[in-house]
Amino acid sequence: MQEQAIAWRHAGDDIGVVPTMGALHAGHDSLVTRARSENQRVIVTIFVNPAQFGPNEDFERYPRPFDQDRARLEALGVDAIFHPPVDQIYPPAFKTRVDPGPLADVLEGKSRPGHFAGVLTVVLKLFNLTQPKRAYFGQKDFQQVVLVRQLVRDFGLPVRIVAVPTVRHPDGLAMSSRNVYLDPGQRQLAPTLQQALTEAARAFTAGETDPLRLEGLARGRLAAAQGLAVDYVALVDGATLSRPERAIPGSVLAVAVKLGSIRLIDNVVLGAERL
Ligand code: PAJ
Repeated sequence: MQEQAIAWRHAGDDIGVVPTMGALHAGHDSLVTRARSENQRVIVTIFVNPAQFGPNEDFERYPRPFDQDRARLEALGVDAIFHPPVDQIYPPAFKTRVDPGPLADVLEGKSRPGHFAGVLTVVLKLFNLTQPKRAYFGQKDFQQVVLVRQLVRDFGLPVRIVAVPTVRHPDGLAMSSRNVYLDPGQRQLAPTLQQALTEAARAFTAGETDPLRLEGLARGRLAAAQGLAVDYVALVDGATLSRPERAIPGSVLAVAVKLGSIRLIDNVVLGAERL
C-alpha cells in the first residue's frame, strides 16, 4: 500500500484516506463521498484494530462483512481498499504506542481506558502507510476527531483532518456498525439519545447557556426511558473537552448510554445543527 501511495503522491495526486473498521453504512459512505470530491485518489482502510478494544469489549464479535464492504466501496469509486491482516499492522516485534495524554481520560476515554491510545497508534501507522493529504473522520466520534487533530499538531503530520457531519436514520438514531446488536425493543429506545440532545440544543437556541441546566435537560429525557442507562451527559468545549462556564455556539453536548450491554454515543454541536 505504502509504495502505491508514494507513487501517487510523486505523480502529483492528492490522496484522501478514510480510516474505518468496516461493516460500512451510510455514515461511512458520506466520508468516502466527501473524500472522493476533494482528492485525485481515495484510499479506504478497513481494519478492526485490536489495540482500541478493551478486554471485555466486542473485538471478537465485531461484524466483518468484507465482501459487502468491498462491493459498496467499488460502487463509490474508491482507488484502493487497504485491508491488512493484524500481523501486518502489529507484527510480533511491534513495541511503540502513542500516548494521547489527558484528553483521552475524559468522556469515552474514561469509560474505555486505553481506547484512544489504540486509536492514535493505528491512525498514525495508517497515515504513514497511505500518505494522505486529507483524512476524513465522523463528527459522531467527536472526541476521536479532537484527539486525531492533537496527534497531527503534536507530531507535525502533513495531513488535514476533515470532520464530516453525523449521518442518521430517519428516526434520528446515528448510524453505527454496532446498531446491528440492538434487539427490536432497544432499537425503539435508541432514538432517545438524539431526542435528548435536540431538546437541550433547542433550549440553548432559546437562550439557556448554563451547562448544568443543559446537561440536566438531556439527562432528564434519557432518565425517562426505561431500559436505558446513562453513562455520561457532558457539555464541553469543542476543542479542550473541559466544561465551559457558559455554553457558546460550538460547545458540544455529548452523551453515552448503555442499552443492555450495548454502548451508544452521540453528540450535538450547539448552534450548528438545524433543529
Ligand atoms: P469506525 O467506527 O468504522 O468509523 C470510521 C469512521 O466513520 C469514523 O471517523 C467515524 O466517526 C465515522 N462514522 C461512524 N458513524 C458515522 C455516522 N453515523 N456519520 C458519519 N460518520 C460516521 O472510528 C473508527 O472506525 C476507528 O476508531 C478508526 C478511526 C478506524 C481507527 O481504528
